[in-house]
Amino acid sequence: MAEKIRWGVIGCGGIAARRTIPEFKSMSSEGELVSVMDIDEKRAREVAEQFDIPHYCATEEELLQQNIDAVYIATPQNIHCRQVVQAAQAGKHILCEKPIAISLGEVDWMESACKDAGVKFMLGFCMRYNVYNKKARELVQSGSLGKMVMGRAELTCWYPPVPGAWRQDVSISHGGALIDMGTHCLDILEWIMDARIVEVTGFQDLMTHEYPTKIEDASTIVLRFSNGAHGIVDSYFNLPDAAAQNSLELHGTKGSVIGQGTIGQDPTGNMFSIIQPQETGYNADQIRNIEVARQEYIMEGIGLYGQMIDVFSKCIVEDTESPITLEDGRHSVQVVNAIYKAVKEKRVIRVKG
Ligand SMILES: NC(=O)c1ccc[n+]([C@@H]2O[C@H](COP(=O)([O-])OP(=O)(O)OC[C@H]3O[C@@H](n4cnc5c(N)ncnc54)[C@H](O)[C@@H]3O)[C@@H](O)[C@H]2O)c1
Repeated sequence: MAEKIRWGVIGCGGIAARRTIPEFKSMSSEGELVSVMDIDEKRAREVAEQFDIPHYCATEEELLQQNIDAVYIATPQNIHCRQVVQAAQAGKHILCEKPIAISLGEVDWMESACKDAGVKFMLGFCMRYNVYNKKARELVQSGSLGKMVMGRAELTCWYPPVPGAWRQDVSISHGGALIDMGTHCLDILEWIMDARIVEVTGFQDLMTHEYPTKIEDASTIVLRFSNGAHGIVDSYFNLPDAAAQNSLELHGTKGSVIGQGTIGQDPTGNMFSIIQPQETGYNADQIRNIEVARQEYIMEGIGLYGQMIDVFSKCIVEDTESPITLEDGRHSVQVVNAIYKAVKEKRVIRVKG
């Protein structure tokens, strides 16, 4: 068996400890976790103890001196750039959580650091690894839905004020529900349709919560894609968790795919399609016989984060291109910037590409 890629983790908080590190241990066949680092040393020690990781530390320097090939960065987005550059300069390959960074200038810096060092970079748009989302992509790419008319992706949660939460401090997060959750939705629609977002507009408000700084808790965005299809990305911090549908809807001239719960950290969900091309002309009675054409998909979920570790480890071993590149990250920043501008200026904005 080929040797496993040796990994270090930078940032042992929510997503790392809840999903990525456990999935390293429980499902990764290609990666081995050898060291964890957090600015909060106690946190790093606790995670190392809990998951039986041989080494922990509180500085990037110490982590990067370990015998590791790659790092997983799961810190707040305002420090991704600095840590990516530091890791690249130390010759480590990098899997970095979304959102990639907070400005295009930062993406430029990350890109030249990775290029100069000859290291690979992958962005953590993990929703691409949900089995249902992969199936939806297959259906769209094979033309089963016909010409795409509309795609909608929704991700919501209840996120009240939490003392000290960096997401609620705009100087760190640089935005609210859109940058935090909407970025996944924007990416999944582009990936499924294999089309870029070219125009954006929408509404955002701080409707419900009293956060310490102004970030949106409600974001409803309308899009146009390069294939001509329209899109909606809705992300809210002010809907009850129990009511969250986290819907995925793909509508084409031959039919639709509807998913629920396929956008989220859980690898599961459910999905059905109704594919029934219109065989006759206009039917004024508007009789709909959807049961005939309805197909349910029942699939077993596979951990999204463990899959990312394995995919990127394989990429390193086989020296192939990362599936989610710095260029994808750059485009994501361009779309997010265009959306915030469009909302502020109350108009439609073309995404610079
Ligand atoms: N892909 C996903 O599904 C997903 C889900 C949640 C979060 N995320 C992303 O992951 C990142 C982290 O989010 P989170 O929810 O885990 O946040 P968190 O606050 O729960 O954890 C962040 C951790 O980083 C540590 N940290 C802060 N500054 C640091 C530094 N300079 N060096 C090292 N460690 C530092 C903190 O002590 C904390 O333990 C964010 O970019 C977020 O958008 C992605």
